[in-house]
Amino acid sequence: MAAYICVEDYEKYALKHLPPSVRDYYKGGAGEEYSLKWNREAFKNYRIRPRFLRDVSKRDISTTVLGHKVSMPLGVAPTAMQRMAHPDGECANARAAQTAGTIFILSTISTSSIEEVAKAAPDGIKWFQLYIYIDRNVTLNLIRRAERAGFKALVLTIDAPFFGDRRADIKNKFALPSHLRFANFEDELSQRINTAKTGSSLNEYVTALFDASLSWDDVKWLKRTTTLPIILKGILTAEDARLAVENGVDGIIVSNHGARQIDSVPATIEALPEISKAVGDQVEVYMDGGVTQGIDVLKALALGAKMVFFGRPMLWGLTYNGEKGASAILELMKREIDLAFALTGKSKCCASLKDITRDMVIHASYYSCL
Ligand code: FNR
Ligand code: LAC
Repeated sequence: MAAYICVEDYEKYALKHLPPSVRDYYKGGAGEEYSLKWNREAFKNYRIRPRFLRDVSKRDISTTVLGHKVSMPLGVAPTAMQRMAHPDGECANARAAQTAGTIFILSTISTSSIEEVAKAAPDGIKWFQLYIYIDRNVTLNLIRRAERAGFKALVLTIDAPFFGDRRADIKNKFALPSHLRFANFEDELSQRINTAKTGSSLNEYVTALFDASLSWDDVKWLKRTTTLPIILKGILTAEDARLAVENGVDGIIVSNHGARQIDSVPATIEALPEISKAVGDQVEVYMDGGVTQGIDVLKALALGAKMVFFGRPMLWGLTYNGEKGASAILELMKREIDLAFALTGKSKCCASLKDITRDMVIHASYYSCL
């Protein structure tokens, strides 16, 4: 069997072996997929400026996130419906994150329940991603269950009052295979996703059930409702980042939802500098989008992120071989991150603010101006 040594190897395998409508749902973006391409390509526009002769014989890439120690500055973003990739789905992914010593974020619309995931990975750091339903009792119930199950933070996704125009899903009439359910729910809320009436069942579900009237008042409501830290996911501008700080959130994830919401938004690595500049160290800033290599993580940290997350690569690992495949992805990324920092002259990446500096990377245009 060929050696699988980088994320791309697992991606190729998954794209070849997944059923077409699942493959298209996992890999796809919104509209013409400009932003989907940019998320990856924009990383190429930043050059690394390595320094040498700095004793990198002993190294440490661990960091702390909201006070929790993690083994590396990369964790698992929430992605829905992971049992379409492998029968163990979210449980396998959460266990892989636990073994790797990093954060796992569970989606509201997962195919393993909050309780199942807590049982599968009792010692891992788990956060719960929240979609807010029109029926607030549904949301309150999710919050209480996440609290009881030992989840350490709530990640409110703010960029999805509706879902984006995902053309392949509309053409494929994407629906969750009939043997699977939205495991956090019962009855209609769990099964409505199994059939599509007009186009994508997911769009129909979200339009019918998610609360499109959300505003900053609901962030305040959420803060009053729980004592868990609140992280806003989907910030793309300095303006919203400042509002997030004013509203007292604990962290923000610079994210364009894997380019699945509105097309033509910037790559997240492009949006990150204005946001980290705007908020400084008032809240922790994280990012996701297009990360597939250790050097991507280094660039994101140099541009102001404290922690990075990735979504699709974990789905590729899961498709390849369940928990083992997911673990393999996290291990290879750990190795790549360690090497990236070592070869840039950093023996520590995250022990103190001084470890990572903006001058470690520079935009490519600098070199054409010399
Ligand atoms: C997502 N994402 C997502 N985000 C969220 O808040 N709740 C969710 O349920 C999902 N579901 C989901 C499914 C799939 C198949 C994908 C690809 C993405 C967005 C996700 O958390 C993250 O922002 C992106 O995946 C990051 O981009 P990369 O790492 O996939 O390039
Ligand atoms: C997605 C969801 C579920 O991007 O957030 O498909």
